[in-house]
Amino acid sequence: MSEDHKLRLSVSHLLDIPSLSREDIELLLHRALQHKRHLAEKTDVTQTLAGKVILTLFAENSTRTKSAAIMAAHRLGAKILDWDEKTSSSQKGETFSDTIRYLSAFGPDAIVIRHKDYNAPYYVAKQVKCPVINAGDSWRAHPTQALVDALTLMELKGRIEGLTMAICGDVAHSRVAQCNMALFHKLGGTVHLVTPDYLRPEKIPYPNVKLFNSFEEGLKGCDAVMMLRIQKERMDQSLIPDDAAYFNEYGLTHDRLAFAKPDAVVLHPGPMNRGVEIADEVADDPHRSAIFHQADNRVPVNMAALDLFLP
Ligand code: CP
Repeated sequence: MSEDHKLRLSVSHLLDIPSLSREDIELLLHRALQHKRHLAEKTDVTQTLAGKVILTLFAENSTRTKSAAIMAAHRLGAKILDWDEKTSSSQKGETFSDTIRYLSAFGPDAIVIRHKDYNAPYYVAKQVKCPVINAGDSWRAHPTQALVDALTLMELKGRIEGLTMAICGDVAHSRVAQCNMALFHKLGGTVHLVTPDYLRPEKIPYPNVKLFNSFEEGLKGCDAVMMLRIQKERMDQSLIPDDAAYFNEYGLTHDRLAFAKPDAVVLHPGPMNRGVEIADEVADDPHRSAIFHQADNRVPVNMAALDLFLP
């Protein structure tokens, strides 16, 4: 990694996709590919973060994002200080702002944060002297997820520009959908949102985004189909039908996938709710499902974010 690459990022924190330039996104994806190659070849994974300590601060559950950030830090030689909400003094009434003041005083070299409040990562970025990587806030932003998805499509389709991706299901409560719409807008792709009325976003943020009610219309001409789980933790659950009724109307099966291009690939950020938004036959289809290809890209993307954002 050269110093000029670091200087080329236009921002100090990875908070969302809209604040990144197209060049930032391309640099992050390029770096992630380098890391992926080095990891696969077991060569040249330099310990560029040796001596650094990264604070992981997850105030919401996570399997993929937290583990990938920790694995990436270890691969680059950094150590982890993990704040766990469930065993922390927030359970004794300590405020989030006091927590940040104390932890910041310990001098972490970067903070990876997930929080249910959309303002939390921005607040932390203003309070601390180190880079902040947003590992998901509220319904609004999950930038490392969008970079994982973009890297997967770049590998499978060679580009984002000119691609059409359907994002299906609970778009209204999805930070993954928000970040993917922003990324496709930046890189010249088109997004079809396929949602029932009760999971439709209040506004369509970009001119490259179109809204559909049915798979038949929404998947036409699509190169990729991203399924989303129903984010029950962010909604009034009385709005949604039971799992079987939802699957009947909005679950992705092979029959419905046939509305997309014959070589369209299926993505899912995880966690999947099998038999609700996606059938096993699609999730485990070795020819169409790219879901575990996304898994392969999580550590390289987090490595790219850490080594490009850390000073
Ligand atoms: N996609 C995603 O953010 O998964 P986790 O909640 O397990 O991190």
